[in-house]
Amino acid sequence: MSLDARILAALRAAGTTAVSGAELAQQAGVTRAAIWSRIQELRVLGYDISASPHLGYRLISTPDVLHADDLLARLGQTRVIGRDIRVFRETTSTNDVVEKLAADGVKEGVVVFAEAQSKGRGRLGRRWVSPPGKGLWFSILLRPALRPVETTQLTVATAIALARAIRQTTRLQPQVKWPNDILVKHRKVAGILMEMAAETDVVKHVILGIGIDVNLSSNDFPAEIKEHATSLRIERSHAVNRAELAVAVLRELDDDYHRLRQGQFEAVAEEWTRACSTIGQMVAVRMGETVVRGRAEALDTDGALVVRTQHGRPVRIVGGDVTLEKGATAT
Ligand code: BTN
Repeated sequence: MSLDARILAALRAAGTTAVSGAELAQQAGVTRAAIWSRIQELRVLGYDISASPHLGYRLISTPDVLHADDLLARLGQTRVIGRDIRVFRETTSTNDVVEKLAADGVKEGVVVFAEAQSKGRGRLGRRWVSPPGKGLWFSILLRPALRPVETTQLTVATAIALARAIRQTTRLQPQVKWPNDILVKHRKVAGILMEMAAETDVVKHVILGIGIDVNLSSNDFPAEIKEHATSLRIERSHAVNRAELAVAVLRELDDDYHRLRQGQFEAVAEEWTRACSTIGQMVAVRMGETVVRGRAEALDTDGALVVRTQHGRPVRIVGGDVTLEKGATAT
């Protein structure tokens, strides 16, 4: 853990009690002068830290910026996801940054956040609006022991982890729309873009790109998506702390990735089905030129959506755009 992360972790753990410079210095194995100098730097970043000559330091408030050391300090020890966190002020797409890290052989679990993306992308070649400081735009490198056809399991696990973290942090009741949309009151607040490199039947790595519309206002959304998109801030009527949400997401994802690695996809799928607004509904699934219509019945063991067509035939859907068929009755 870096010195900043140690200082912030110690101050946060102490709550309203002050921690002396000597104590911080001893815990971190550095001089009191080194602690003082880092505290000055943290203040420049916007951390409000009070200093009293007799009592020591207290963390009064944290700024709404993403700071890798702070995220690491809040997160603490995880199994895989978030053991390495990097934050950029701006990138093209965080998926691009992680792609490069993957090529350099970086270990799985690294998470790259950007305050803004100039070329954020969504599924099916769509643009993903990523204004500075308003959302969580991040990507995670994974090297799972899965076959390419099984990687939908990761999207499913990510979706429920996101829903849980949003619920814990905001008390909103998000729903999941297959395969990768998180909705609040039928409007999208978050999406997942999974990209992977595979050789024949072996996955080399997976990049999980996650976008959460945290504090966007309705003017931040382009006209064409305004009707279907929302943000946590809009739904809650006040701003949401991005760092707190980021940490909750990484913790939940780390748990679900662990469940998958233990072969517990069934439990993940059951939870997904409970949170899902798609199962039991009449849907139309667009895959390029093809449209499959029917009742969304279940997830299969690979995470594919099983749709029963009007002819009674089950069709496995592994990708595509799902819309609910308005006015149609599920039987
Ligand atoms: C979708 O619902 O279409 C998926 C949206 C995924 C957006 C995220 S933001 C972080 C990462 N970088 C990108 O360029 N896209 C993903």
